[in-house]
Amino acid sequence: MDKIEILKRLQEEHKIIRNNITLANQRVNDLAVMSAASAIGVGMVFSSNGSLQGKPEKSQKAIDYIYDGLNRHFAFEEEYLPPLIEPAIMQGLKAEHEVIRAKLEKARSALTDIRMDSLKEEQILSWKNDIWHIMNSIYWTIERHASKEETILREMQKAMEENKTSGVF
Ligand SMILES: [Fe+2]
Ligand SMILES: [Fe+2]
Repeated sequence: MDKIEILKRLQEEHKIIRNNITLANQRVNDLAVMSAASAIGVGMVFSSNGSLQGKPEKSQKAIDYIYDGLNRHFAFEEEYLPPLIEPAIMQGLKAEHEVIRAKLEKARSALTDIRMDSLKEEQILSWKNDIWHIMNSIYWTIERHASKEETILREMQKAMEENKTSGVF
């Protein structure tokens, strides 16, 4: 795969990731709000027996979807970027990949480990707020990481174009 193909693929994947993380963020927060409202009996009841079965599962699916997509993207970057960028910068990007993975795992366990029936109302509301904060933090960490990479990619592209006009390639 040549440099241009790598750059194009990464730019395309970033568009998809940005879109997916926005959707996952909304979905997880909506489901958390519904689960909390249902658990404390506010507004709507979501099943005849008041069961919350299935909702945290749906949120986990949204997280897993993002997690799998990001892991494939990170693996691609970690394989194809090292020959193209400075090792210290690559180390920094890899460290950020780990931070993002850890945050997604934290979100997953916040959704998986919850047992609504054993919680008081204020604990349920605080769980819902925690989910919001965790998802918000994931969103901005990915956004900052992607922006940083895009700056690097733009510089690579510029250097390639300059080299082309100066006859290096
Ligand atoms: Fe990355
Ligand atoms: Fe990336």
